[in-house]
Amino acid sequence: MTKAPPGYKTRKQRAATGPTVRMKHTKVKTARGRKISSKLWLERQLNDPYVIEAGRQGYRSRAAFKLLELDGKFHFLKSGARVVDLGATPGGWSQVAAEIVLKGKNGKAGKVVALDIQAMEPLPDVTFLLQDFMDSDAPDNLKAALGGEADLVISDMAAKATGHTPTDHLRIMGLCETALQFAREVLATDGAFVAKVLQGGTEGDLLNAMKTDFKVVRHAKPPASRQDSAEMYVVATGFKGRTLGRLET
Ligand SMILES: C[S@@+](CC[C@H](N)C(=O)[O-])C[C@H]1O[C@@H](n2cnc3c(N)ncnc32)[C@H](O)[C@@H]1O
Repeated sequence: MTKAPPGYKTRKQRAATGPTVRMKHTKVKTARGRKISSKLWLERQLNDPYVIEAGRQGYRSRAAFKLLELDGKFHFLKSGARVVDLGATPGGWSQVAAEIVLKGKNGKAGKVVALDIQAMEPLPDVTFLLQDFMDSDAPDNLKAALGGEADLVISDMAAKATGHTPTDHLRIMGLCETALQFAREVLATDGAFVAKVLQGGTEGDLLNAMKTDFKVVRHAKPPASRQDSAEMYVVATGFKGRTLGRLET
C-alpha cells in the first residue's frame, strides 16, 4: 500500500483535493538535438504536481489520480471486486484498483485483469494480457483470465493522437463503444463501467445508449485531467444485467 505524503493525506482527501504541494517552476534548457516539442513536454512533466505526486507515492502514472478522483466521487472501487482494466500500461489504474479491491472482505478475494497493446512491467497480483483490445479473441481471453463475471470494467484506452481532432475523437469513441459492448457481456448485475471519451460530438449518443443498460450514467472531468484536453470520463453504475431484450442493443 502506498503511503501519502504530508499535504496529500488520505485516499479520500487525495480524491477530494488533488495535490497541494507548492512548487518552484523548473525550466528546461534547449539542448542540441532536443526538439522544441520535447523540451515543452519535459518542462510540463517537471512542473506538473500530479507527476511529482505520482513519483512520491510510487504510482506509475499521473493517471492514477484520475481514477482516485473519479472513485472519490462515484465510489465504484470496492474491496473484493473483480476488475478488468483496459488500456492499462504503464499501470497507474491497475495499481489503484489492486490497492482497493485486493483487500478482500468477508473472504471474497478481488481480482484485477489488465490488458494493453503495449507491454507493462509486472505488478504483483495483477494478471496482464499483452493484446490489442480490438482483436476478435481479446474479449474471450479476458473472460478466461477473469474466470467469471466482473464487477467493474474500466477503460483508459486512447489511440495515439493523430492531431486531426475528428479522427482522434472517432478512434477513441470506437474503443469506448467496443469496451462498452464487452462490459455488457462480462459484468455481473449491479456492476459498473468507467471509460475515457473525448468531447467532440458523439459522446451524448454513447451516454444515451448506456442508459439502457445502467441505472445511473454520469460524465465527469476529474481535476487531474488536464484542462486543455478534450478528455472526460463516463461513469455508469448499477448494470441492469443481461436480458434477452437488451442483448441485441
Ligand atoms: C492513457 S494510457 C493508459 C494509462 C493507464 N490507465 C495508467 O493509469 O497508467 C492509454 C493506453 O491505451 C492503450 N491502448 C490504445 N489502444 C489500445 C488497444 N486497441 N488495445 C489495447 N490498449 C490500447 C495504449 O497502449 C496506452 O497504454
